[in-house]
Amino acid sequence: MVSEKMYGLGTRKSTIRTIFEFGRKRAAEIGEENVYDFSIGNPNVPAPAIVNQTIIDTIKEMDSCALHGYTVAPGDPEVRETIAKSINRRFGTDYAGKNLFMTSGAAAALTICFKALAEDWDEFLTFAPYFPEYKCFVESVGSELKVVPANTDDFQIRFDMLEEMLTPHIKAVIINTPNNPSGVVYSEETIKKLAEVLYAKEKEYGHPIFLISDEPYRELVYGGIEVPYVPKYYKNTLVCYSWSKSLSLPGERIGYIVVPDEIEGFEQVYGAIAGAARVLTHVNASSLFQRVVAKCVDVPSDIAAYEENGNLLYNGLIEAGFTCQKPQGAFYLFPKALEDDDYAFCERAKKYDLLLVPGTDFGCPGYFRAAYCIKKSTIEASLPAFRKLAEEYRK
Ligand SMILES: Cc1ncc(COP(=O)(O)O)c(C=O)c1O
Repeated sequence: MVSEKMYGLGTRKSTIRTIFEFGRKRAAEIGEENVYDFSIGNPNVPAPAIVNQTIIDTIKEMDSCALHGYTVAPGDPEVRETIAKSINRRFGTDYAGKNLFMTSGAAAALTICFKALAEDWDEFLTFAPYFPEYKCFVESVGSELKVVPANTDDFQIRFDMLEEMLTPHIKAVIINTPNNPSGVVYSEETIKKLAEVLYAKEKEYGHPIFLISDEPYRELVYGGIEVPYVPKYYKNTLVCYSWSKSLSLPGERIGYIVVPDEIEGFEQVYGAIAGAARVLTHVNASSLFQRVVAKCVDVPSDIAAYEENGNLLYNGLIEAGFTCQKPQGAFYLFPKALEDDDYAFCERAKKYDLLLVPGTDFGCPGYFRAAYCIKKSTIEASLPAFRKLAEEYRK
């Protein structure tokens, strides 16, 4: 009667959602302050005040029909010009409005890219640990997602496995840096080596291999770490960006795709992106928020609270005996679980009202994700619980 596949996707909750809902129930029983919910990546830093003011000013200043009316599908030309200029200032690129396609966040940007690129038998490749929605988005366009196992030494790339898995069927490789869930930023060395491998395979196979750089956390980096601008290293790159995290606007659904001039078959790629957006009923990205982000394009992200939280949690976990990469970016830590079965570990953590997400959900068993975009006081209060949990494993 209905599509089994869609029914499954709509009714089978993700582990993250299930844990989050458990947390809500538990908070009602024992009080919000006694539940240490590290499950969900929803920014807890408010959007900068200037963003809210810009929303109000834009509504006051612009003609209502123009503001709330349809824009052209790729996005208002002036908005795209403004954003292109901002990217050029920051990264020394040479983009114009025609290189941008405004989308409803990074999720739409990614799905549009997958649909635009996928032909019969094409596959996509990503690296564990990875954002679990990739699988869903890739399968929605009839393709398959292949996953290179994690390099658990430092969560950079396992190049030996990449070379093995980069078959002629791979249409595009997806990277996400700063990474959800590892919190790691790919180094310049990693990006250079990745570009080298992709160029060599393109030459060997005689067709382009696209690199999709999923960058919703680009501005959320700590300790002065640089995030390499991927199109400068590899010409067949598509950038998927969003303001969900950088300006704390996840519910407003606004982002873009960059299609650089240098990409092989620019006209075809941009045209296919427009076509994919059309059948995915994109129509246009929010016309109010196109204007708002254009005006706020150079507003810095407020990262102080995330940086403080990340360090607090990291130091607390190390003291308790966990092993974990130092926070570099995004707002997640990805420590090693204290037993091989990460599901069993996260179940045991629940005894202490610690709500953690098993690494298996991100394609990396034996680890867990803790999202630290939560109140600092919750992290402080959670540390004795982490210590008790670790003690239980030492007994
Ligand atoms: C790695 C990654 N990519 C994409 C998205 C989707 O972001 P958006 O809200 O912009 O659709 C998320 C959201 O959490 C994410 O973590």
